[in-house]
Amino acid sequence: MTLPFDFAHGAERAGSDSIKWRRYAGRDVIPMWVADMDFAAPPPVLDALRARLDHGVFGYADPWPGVLEAVIDGIARDHGWRIQPEWLVWLPGVVTGFNVAVRTVGRPGDGVFTATPVYPPFLHAPGNFEQRLVTTSLLRTGTRWEWDWDRSAAALADGVRLFMLCHPHNPVGRVFDRDELGRIAELAERHDLVVCSDEIHCGLVLDPTKAHVPLAALDERIGRRTITLMAPSKTWNIPALYCAFAIIPDGTLRARYKHAMAGIVPHVNVLGLVATEAAYRDGGPWREALLATLRSNAARVTDAIDLLPGLATTPVEATYLAWIDCRDFLAARGLTGSPAAFFEQAGVGLSDGRDFGLPGFVRLNFGCPPARLEAALERMRRAVTA
Ligand SMILES: Cc1ncc(COP(=O)(O)O)c(C=O)c1O
Repeated sequence: MTLPFDFAHGAERAGSDSIKWRRYAGRDVIPMWVADMDFAAPPPVLDALRARLDHGVFGYADPWPGVLEAVIDGIARDHGWRIQPEWLVWLPGVVTGFNVAVRTVGRPGDGVFTATPVYPPFLHAPGNFEQRLVTTSLLRTGTRWEWDWDRSAAALADGVRLFMLCHPHNPVGRVFDRDELGRIAELAERHDLVVCSDEIHCGLVLDPTKAHVPLAALDERIGRRTITLMAPSKTWNIPALYCAFAIIPDGTLRARYKHAMAGIVPHVNVLGLVATEAAYRDGGPWREALLATLRSNAARVTDAIDLLPGLATTPVEATYLAWIDCRDFLAARGLTGSPAAFFEQAGVGLSDGRDFGLPGFVRLNFGCPPARLEAALERMRRAVTA
């Protein structure tokens, strides 16, 4: 099958401003850590940015009707959720968005709940506002990661006011289903919590039997207590354009959220807004082609890791991130250091599980051309079987 877009050859990023690539400048290490992809942005996004550059004036800008319409129609089309324009609060990033949520909801000493392992800035956000991080662990049952409902309910009783959800989940790659989301909604109701649902990976569902259901779209009750965070940045690979948004249906919660932003959160930059409009309106075909590449990369990772003694992974339902358990391998080899350091020595730069709250694991970013992924997997195979 020929794809209309070229995901076989990534953009040349060595020597560029990329954080992911600069860490290994001058070293023979394939970077597979920071969560951006080695692909150029979709052609409609690049065209829109070029047209805006040609205008040449970069004065202060407000989101215009076209960008609102593109986002609202895109979310309705892709996720079956029709939001109102006034629910949107524009942000320069999703990390900013969940830090503002912590600031909005709790006071110093209050608990903020999340389930580990999780995207590391979740673990730091409560401490940024003198609040307490309260966690339980997700459990691996067979080939998927699931909630420990009893422990989660017990943890929520510990003075928690905010539930931070990562959905789809980085790093375990789960797309939580209606049943799981319903249980989360029930817990939020029972403990009178606000939920901040980080849905930045919602456009990257790889499992064809699954669909992303926004938590707030379940019903109006949970919608009223939810701050949903979304962005075009992961799906269309434009994170450094810094454009994201919160969706907050409840007017009182939204006003409190805006108050917590006042004076410290800047407006979104105009190029980010231009790219966002083009991505949501015209980025569908590129996204479909991307998903085909990511699905096949995900299958390669699972197949390759399954063959390696002491390593284990689970199918990636969404994201371009694989979460790999290295504990048996480390134990069999008598290694006490981090698995990321082991693989870095073997020429593959991965994220270390310790940063996500679960040592002994690594996260592999497979958002790259298949040949580069193959080279990295081969290096891992050699290192593990040597
Ligand atoms: C779950 C999650 N949230 C947020 C972010 C980053 O968002 P932003 O760059 O918009 O702050 C990432 C990036 O990897 C992520 O995986």
